[in-house]
Amino acid sequence: MDAFTFHNPTKLIFGKDQISQLPSLIPDGTKKVLVVYGGGSIKKNGVYDQVMSQLNEAGVEVQELSGVEPNPKLTTVEKGVQICKEENIDFLLAVGGGSVIDCTKTIAAGANYDGAPWDLVTRKAKPESALPFGTVLTLAATGSEMNAGAVITNWETNEKYGWGAAPLTNPTFSILDPAYTVSVPRDQTIYGIVDMMTHLFEQYFHNPTQSPVQDEMVEGVLRAVIETAPKLLDNLESLEHRETILYAGTVALNGMLQMGYRGDWASHNIEHAVSAVYDIPHAGGLAILFPNWMKHNLEVNEQRFARLATKVFGVNPEGKGDKEVAEEGIKALRSFWSSIGAPETLADYEIGDDKFDIIVDRAMKRGPFGNFNQLHEEDVQRILEMSK
Ligand code: NZQ
Ligand code: ZN
Repeated sequence: MDAFTFHNPTKLIFGKDQISQLPSLIPDGTKKVLVVYGGGSIKKNGVYDQVMSQLNEAGVEVQELSGVEPNPKLTTVEKGVQICKEENIDFLLAVGGGSVIDCTKTIAAGANYDGAPWDLVTRKAKPESALPFGTVLTLAATGSEMNAGAVITNWETNEKYGWGAAPLTNPTFSILDPAYTVSVPRDQTIYGIVDMMTHLFEQYFHNPTQSPVQDEMVEGVLRAVIETAPKLLDNLESLEHRETILYAGTVALNGMLQMGYRGDWASHNIEHAVSAVYDIPHAGGLAILFPNWMKHNLEVNEQRFARLATKVFGVNPEGKGDKEVAEEGIKALRSFWSSIGAPETLADYEIGDDKFDIIVDRAMKRGPFGNFNQLHEEDVQRILEMSK
């Protein structure tokens, strides 16, 4: 294993009706809270009213920033930063999915930074401080509720980057009530499942190091998600299955599984470049790209792919070589994702190859990438061609 330090400062509050803890979680001395949310789902499902009633009980003044887009935009971050500076906001509360949380993280750091927030996203500048913030999660997917990462899109330049500055961009607390995720529509539920599974895969395919404990944990979470996903999609109102998927999404990317190695993360980098050019759901892009990343990298370590195939997808290895087993595993993943309704090709989003050059350029912006196998321009081009 590589040497590592693990410190996750987010207080995780999980379970039904745990919103009642909100007043006690707001830091002492807080006067003004900026509540950040998306396009209105929280008003329809009653989460907004519950949050506001708790904030009222906490005796704090509330300002609001609504309309955070899926794939949050830099312009919305800038709006939030302006509100924080003008209104002397001292705490932020994100109520929503990964997009709302990522936007809030960047606002929190931008509020204490004199320059443009984009400097932080592009890592031109490092924040020295940030406003504290908490989250009320409403969608199981990104793990943003318990990590320091944030992904922001600049539509003027077609750039979408992940950034983060732990511990400043770690939420102080996150409240996860499975009941809040029951209203998540079918398509977003599918995307959430694909996203968390891909986070697990990105970690499973890591730089060469031994990791038997971590491997078993990743495989175990994957099996639980694969088992639960079809049951949840059969009954979107099942609290039990919502609970399993919600918890899986958080452990998949809160750092617990990624100790002692560096995950690959190349597919995420390519997907962010795709959705910087075409405004498609993050996990829709991943469902298309990831199996092709696997095919492209099979020869790097056939054994690793074969292990995934047998331990997670139940492929029978008897009488077969690693390559054959590995290929069956990739097919099993593709058919599992198809069976739950995830997209398969870029054509499913009516994306052709006319902007591949821009996508490749954006993906290569920070140089060759990927820790399981380093990808260069021609690799990205090939994976995109395979995804048409
Ligand atoms: O905007 P509202 O009206 O709230 O509707 C949202 C949005 O349309 C809706 N939704 C959320 N909770 C709901 C609900 N609808 C009904 N009931 C509920 N309870 O779902 C839609 C999608 O929401 P969004 O927040 O965009 O989804 P997700 O959580 O998948 O976040 C995606 C963003 O996170 C980034 C992605 O790139 C993308 O920008 N990522 C962030 C990561 C991180 N910070 O660690 C890691 C990921 O790999 C990912 O890149
Ligand atoms: Zn993701």
